[in-house]
Amino acid sequence: MHLDQAQQGIDQAVAKLGDTSLSEQTIVEHLHPLFSRVLSRNKRTNEIYLSNHSLGRPLDMVSDVVQTALDGWYDEIDGVWGYWLEARDRYRAQIARALRWPDENAVVPKSSAAQGLRAVLNALPSTCLKIVSTRCEFDSIDFVLKSYAHKGRAEMRWVEPDANDMLQAQDIIDSIDESTDLVVVSMVCFVTGQRVEQIERIIERAHACDAMVVLDAYHAFGVLPIDFGSLGADFIIAGNYKYTRGGAGSCFLAIHPRHLSPEGGVPPTDALFPIDTGWFAKQDPFAYQRNEMPAFAAGGDAWLEATPPALTYFQALPGLMLTNAIGVDRLRAYSLEQQKALVDALAQHQVSPRLFDQRGAYILIETPDGHEATKRLKEVGVNSDARPLPRSGSWVIRLCPDLLNTRAELEDAANRVSSVLQRI
Ligand SMILES: Cc1ncc(COP(=O)(O)O)c(C=O)c1O
Repeated sequence: MHLDQAQQGIDQAVAKLGDTSLSEQTIVEHLHPLFSRVLSRNKRTNEIYLSNHSLGRPLDMVSDVVQTALDGWYDEIDGVWGYWLEARDRYRAQIARALRWPDENAVVPKSSAAQGLRAVLNALPSTCLKIVSTRCEFDSIDFVLKSYAHKGRAEMRWVEPDANDMLQAQDIIDSIDESTDLVVVSMVCFVTGQRVEQIERIIERAHACDAMVVLDAYHAFGVLPIDFGSLGADFIIAGNYKYTRGGAGSCFLAIHPRHLSPEGGVPPTDALFPIDTGWFAKQDPFAYQRNEMPAFAAGGDAWLEATPPALTYFQALPGLMLTNAIGVDRLRAYSLEQQKALVDALAQHQVSPRLFDQRGAYILIETPDGHEATKRLKEVGVNSDARPLPRSGSWVIRLCPDLLNTRAELEDAANRVSSVLQRI
């Protein structure tokens, strides 16, 4: 399936939803047919999938779209590169649209969020960065920062969550001072699902101290409306593995245009410029000219790297197209309705989830043993996961409904969850 056909199929299905808020009836009628493969698996296995905050479920067309990209390789050999690069540009454009940013060149594909973070760390002029981050960052980000600190490339100031495992914006703000080079913080914390409040104030404080900000938007991208321009963060890292249904390896780094050079060229040595680089970041790479000094491409292309992994764009595009066609505002409203439906259904079984007012796309249930709980839930056909809270270390099960979960399924899930929790 060609990308134009994929876009057309998605647009036609979404048009049938109308312009109003999403309802289960219209979703089942018009969107579920796009997911017949994963939905038929539900029937086969009797499993209720509530790990949508982890690996998002793919549209049927993903395999056809990837197949066409591969067929091009067989049929046209190197002639397929035009189509592969078109997919990369569409990928960048879809992400820019989801960030409400008009310049798709400000979005650079990366294979992981960690890769995006490392590109920023290596691009900053200081050789030992003073970094403020929190104990609530995802393992990958936490590990990268600790590795840099261990090598003497960073000095870390870690912000602890409060006694309830909640991050307080003021604690982050108070940790930033004139010595800070960089602040790395999640928009939504990966364990608790807490939406970090007053992100704008954190960014303002960092900028007032001449520090830059990397926002990890992994649990916000496709969940909460994000406006890259008005946020003003210097960088956003995120990926499509979860809510935008793009599978593994399809991540990105967005760079605020104030850090991009419209003309490109050789940057001053003490400027911000990437060294995680390759020939696709060169000015006019296909001219095969070599200069003694590195002359970077204009705009965000300066942050591209080497020969790109083209197939991941095809894998990720249908999910991104669907997210943008529906619109994150509508998805968010529907997600909150579904979370409420799940909470109400659990309450009927005397299960009280831990709920934050400001949260992302999932709810939490406390449990004494996360490994045991998720194993037992799997046995009764509920696919979920659990993580230890960052401060207390107690376990929470994470349950995330999405467009493919019906209310009947959520009621069934609540029943199954309560039967398991009574036995732990
Ligand atoms: C907040 C957050 N950041 C980043 C990631 C993924 O990081 P990486 O792409 O480096 O594996 C995840 C994955 O769950 C996450 O929850």
